[in-house]
Amino acid sequence: MPYPFQITSLEEYQLRYKQSVENPEKFWSEVAESFLWKKKWDKVLEWNFTEPKVEWFKGAKLNITENCIDRHLAEKGDLPAIIWEPNNPEERTRVVTYNRLHKRVCQVAQMLKNNGVKKGDRVCIYMGMVPELAYAVLGCARIGAIHSVIFGGFSAQSIADRLEDAKAEYIITCDGAYRGEKVIPLKDVIDDALVGNKTVKRVIVFTRTRTPVSMIKGRDIWWEDEMLYAEEQVEKNGVVKFDAEEMDAEDPLFILYTSGSTGKPKGVVHSCAGYMIFTAYSFVNVFQYQFPQVHFCTADIGWITGHSYIVYGPLAAGATSLMFEGIPTWPDAGRFWNIVDKYKVNILYTAPTAIRSLMGFGEAPLKDKDLSSLQILGTVGEPINEEAWHWYDENIGKKKSPIVDTWWQTETAGILISNLAGVTPSKPSWATLPLPGVQPLLVDESGQEVTEPDEEGLYKGNLCIKFPWPSIIRTTYGDHERCRTNYFATYPGLYFTGDGVLKDKDGNYRITGRVDDVLNVSGHRIGTAEVENAINMHSGVVESAVVGYPHDIKGQGIYAYVIYTGTHDAELTKRDITMTVSRIIGPIAKPDKIQFVSGLPKTRSGKIMRRILRKIAEGETKNIGDTTSLLDPNIVEEIKNGKV
Ligand code: WTA
Repeated sequence: MPYPFQITSLEEYQLRYKQSVENPEKFWSEVAESFLWKKKWDKVLEWNFTEPKVEWFKGAKLNITENCIDRHLAEKGDLPAIIWEPNNPEERTRVVTYNRLHKRVCQVAQMLKNNGVKKGDRVCIYMGMVPELAYAVLGCARIGAIHSVIFGGFSAQSIADRLEDAKAEYIITCDGAYRGEKVIPLKDVIDDALVGNKTVKRVIVFTRTRTPVSMIKGRDIWWEDEMLYAEEQVEKNGVVKFDAEEMDAEDPLFILYTSGSTGKPKGVVHSCAGYMIFTAYSFVNVFQYQFPQVHFCTADIGWITGHSYIVYGPLAAGATSLMFEGIPTWPDAGRFWNIVDKYKVNILYTAPTAIRSLMGFGEAPLKDKDLSSLQILGTVGEPINEEAWHWYDENIGKKKSPIVDTWWQTETAGILISNLAGVTPSKPSWATLPLPGVQPLLVDESGQEVTEPDEEGLYKGNLCIKFPWPSIIRTTYGDHERCRTNYFATYPGLYFTGDGVLKDKDGNYRITGRVDDVLNVSGHRIGTAEVENAINMHSGVVESAVVGYPHDIKGQGIYAYVIYTGTHDAELTKRDITMTVSRIIGPIAKPDKIQFVSGLPKTRSGKIMRRILRKIAEGETKNIGDTTSLLDPNIVEEIKNGKV
């Protein structure tokens, strides 16, 4: 049975797209009808992109966890909501039924309540990929606390910054996390992050690795003890109950920090109703989900992809979502294929960087793996090159599984541009068409709509969206002005994505990458300014400039030009700089290449000409372009001839 809002043919796509543009309110209110509301809305949409202010389903009351869990219990109570594959394939797997999920989420909600957490309080979650992470996220949502999940690869300093920005009073973490052969001491990192912190009152620690941890009286408590106590409160005579908080449609659901082109990461805020509707809608349509298919999204819940397509989207659609604790290359490079085979996965959603990395191992890891259950493949996070696309298509999808190339962002919360699996055509390395309800617009530097194609018949420009969709970013936490200047001020009246794009005559979009100073390294968003600030913290470093360069596996690598005046050994210092970045941001932001230079190419007004640095990092030393406006054109020669 298709979902009421599932689009199942090309004709229907075209019709629904047209309707969604002509009457967006009608379109989205019809989608919204299939959710569970405590009270219906007074108004479907109120918006302007000047402040900006966007309100969807104003006046409606709901709780997203009742939509993700409770309403499925009657039919699917004993069926799997989450299937969990541990890091170690020898360890017992866990199948979490909807009933079990309900109970656990009620327990977490009760545990949080017992510890004083109230609606609107910020709870920071720093955990590995264990089912308890999903329970924690949903437990917050059940009582209306705002969760802020931080990816396990961020450093204590990054966590400290986020805790402070969100003024978080509660943390949920693990003693440690397994990642391949490694054990990451998460609680230890949290302890470091808490030095000097004044807001955090409680740290709840879930035991996963039984790594020794410090437990501070009055602050740190064990998840297991608290959950046991909460169980007695929520379960009476076998009946589990914890009343879900009644939330306004526009109440914030979560904060998720992401990198921009300037300053520190910003806390993107999403709201309850719009987020719920759009993640479920996009999940069901893009992947053409049908119960009881098993959906395997390989992302980490610390990123938006995990929020939307491991937890909320699939559960709101009553799907079975597979969650994997480990990494694709451990114990060997066949791990994903093992999982597909073991659980008969039907939908596989991963990042191009993972595909490229696995491609490097050749076809051997695929031997003896039965991938015949796969029906739909997806990619996300960065442009996919044609070679990787075809490898995925031939070796994994066996040329019978449509590939969806899904373009979206933390700020959009859900997929905006993608083919719908098997419904609208795919085109290798093209994200193709916008989902109904999404209105992209291509503009040139001056903000004029691009109406003239180039000689190849392609329209080229910067990607904007001209009309709100339900899960558009509402604000950046604690600083609405930042939201306005970052996304709504470059081109007045439009949401600016930061991405460059090509469009063909049939209306297909191909994302070419960021046009701002944001890097996309292995599908992770990293701001060049952030990395520069971290490098500049190293003693002896005077200044630095960071650019991206093409990297076979990561998509983009980080290239740092550094003015170092210290007297220590250059090679050792480069390692120290790398360590400094790792400490300040996290291992994901470590530069791949560091070049010491005596100066940086700057204009007379002091602006670094990154265009030139990018060219040199790409190995392009001939067509550097005009350097006459530089304060010291000689520096370019020096940099070109320098070594990494
Ligand atoms: C890039 C991840 C090309 C893009 C969901 C965007 C993509 C940034 C694609 C957002 C795609 C995402 N093709 N590029 N299919 N999907 N991107 O916030 O540059 O971590 O702006 O969200 O990833 O990254 P974020």
